[in-house]
Amino acid sequence: MTQARVEPSADVDPRAVLGEGTTVWHLAQVREDAVLGRGCIVGRGAYVGPGVRIGDNVKLQNHALVYEPAVLEDGVFIGPAVVLTNDLYPRSVDVDGRLKRTDDWEALGVTVREGASIGARAVVVAGRTIGRWALVGAGASVTKDVPDHALVVGSPARRIGWVGRAGEPLADEGGGKWRCPRTGEVYTERDGRLTPPPR
Ligand SMILES: CC(C)(COP(=O)(O)OP(=O)(O)OC[C@H]1O[C@@H](n2cnc3c(N)ncnc32)[C@H](O)[C@@H]1OP(=O)(O)O)[C@@H](O)C(=O)NCCC(=O)NCCS
Repeated sequence: MTQARVEPSADVDPRAVLGEGTTVWHLAQVREDAVLGRGCIVGRGAYVGPGVRIGDNVKLQNHALVYEPAVLEDGVFIGPAVVLTNDLYPRSVDVDGRLKRTDDWEALGVTVREGASIGARAVVVAGRTIGRWALVGAGASVTKDVPDHALVVGSPARRIGWVGRAGEPLADEGGGKWRCPRTGEVYTERDGRLTPPPR
């Protein structure tokens, strides 16, 4: 692995930590105390808030906005112009009209579990969790937690199917069995949850 690569026009705070082989492209900003693992890609114009934790091999596409205190596990994909929000009831000023500062409100981060992907221009409401290997469709508004392997679309986002680790929708085989068209793996659905085959 090579050292991290930071384009000269990117703004990476000296207190941020970038793992080996991570690339930060033009005009991206990585704030203080953010920690990114190995092999990540931070696309042009993307934003990583203070203290955000990001695992290995995570892709943030152009202009993705990851507000603190988000946590992104290994292998996560964040599409272009996605927004991971951090304030459920945002206000710029308090009831006396004074500008609210960082200490005047408590940020609530989004968690994106291992391998999950979020499609272009989707918005995730503060504090929600995107389950492992789930897929959020382009333009979705995620207002509730998304189960592992769920395929969700729309505003508000609703589950329309299941996806496997390969990312493709699974085919319903009946009897709670779902097959991946790419790998042939068979997943099991029970009580609204999908369990992958043992590896
Ligand atoms: C969600 C997604 C994976 C579904 O793909 P698919 O399995 O091929 O689904 P289909 O195109 O057959 O659509 C199935 C249904 O969901 C709807 N749908 C598909 N994508 C949708 C989306 N993003 N938002 C809302 N509805 C969507 C379709 O209109 C269709 O509805 P219908 O059954 O009423 O006609 C895909 O459309 C998507 O959004 N992928 C993410 C793309 C992206 O942002 N990539 C980022 C890198 S650039």
